[in-house]
Amino acid sequence: MPRHVAIIMDGNGRWAARRRRPRAIGHRAGARAVNTCIDFCLDQGIEALTLFAFSSENWGRPEEEVGALMKLFIAALDREVEELHRRGVRVRFIGERSRFSADIRARMQAAEALTAGNGRLSLNIAASYGGRQDIAAAARSLAEDVAAGRLQPAQIDEAVLGTRVALADLPAPDLFIRTGGDYRISNFLLWQLAYTELWFTETLWPELDTAVLHEALRAYAGRERRFGLTGEQVAGRARPDLQGSATP
Ligand code: FPP
Repeated sequence: MPRHVAIIMDGNGRWAARRRRPRAIGHRAGARAVNTCIDFCLDQGIEALTLFAFSSENWGRPEEEVGALMKLFIAALDREVEELHRRGVRVRFIGERSRFSADIRARMQAAEALTAGNGRLSLNIAASYGGRQDIAAAARSLAEDVAAGRLQPAQIDEAVLGTRVALADLPAPDLFIRTGGDYRISNFLLWQLAYTELWFTETLWPELDTAVLHEALRAYAGRERRFGLTGEQVAGRARPDLQGSATP
C-alpha cells in the first residue's frame, strides 16, 4: 500500500467538450471526483494525498476559465473544509500563494489553521505550483543562508536541499497517477517524484471512480521498487527512500 499518492487530475476540459458543455462544467465535475479520491484514501488508510489543482502555467488560460476555477476553489473551500476537519484530514497548500486573491489566501490559511492538528490523512493541494519553481525557491533559501553565514556551500547536498522543497516533512510520493491519457509529469513535484512509481490512465478525471483507483493500487503492488539497488539487495532491507537521500 502506498503511503503517499500524488495525482495530476487531467481531462476536465475534454470531459466537458464531449458533452458540448463549457470547460468550467468539466472542472465542477472534477471537484466531485476530488471527493471520491479523498474518500478512497481515507478508506484505504493512505497517509498523504497530493493533488495538482492549478499549475503556475494555468494562469495563462483564458480569463473566463481562470475565473471559473477561482470561484470553484472558493466554493470547495467553503463547502468541504469543516467536513474534512471532522474526518481528521489535514489540509495544506503548496505553490505561489501570493498570486491568489486575498479572499482565497485567507480561506487557505483558515483551512490550514483549522486542520493543522489532524493526522488521519494529509491532503496537499498544489495551487499555482510548479516543480521547477519549488526547486528554485529551495535553492534561493539555501543561498540566503550561505549569504548570512549560516551555511557553508560544501554542506549543501541532496539531503539538505530535500529539506527545503515542498512537502519535506512527508515521505516522498510512492505512487503518481495521471488521468486523461497523457504521459507527462508536467512540472509537478519534480524533486519529490525521483523514485515514485508512475501510473497513467486514459480515464478522464471527472470519470474517476474507485475501480480506477483500485486498478492503480494493484499496479503499484506489482512493482518492484529498487531505488537504484539490485533486486536481491532490496529483498533483504527496509525501504531506502527517505526524501532527499535516495541512492541515485
Ligand atoms: C486539468 O484538466 C484540470 C485542471 C487544470 C484543474 C483541476 C481542478 C479540479 C479537479 C477542480 C477542483 C479542485 C479542487 C482541489 C477543489 P484540463 O482542463 O487540462 O483538461 P483537458 O486536458 O481535457 O483540457
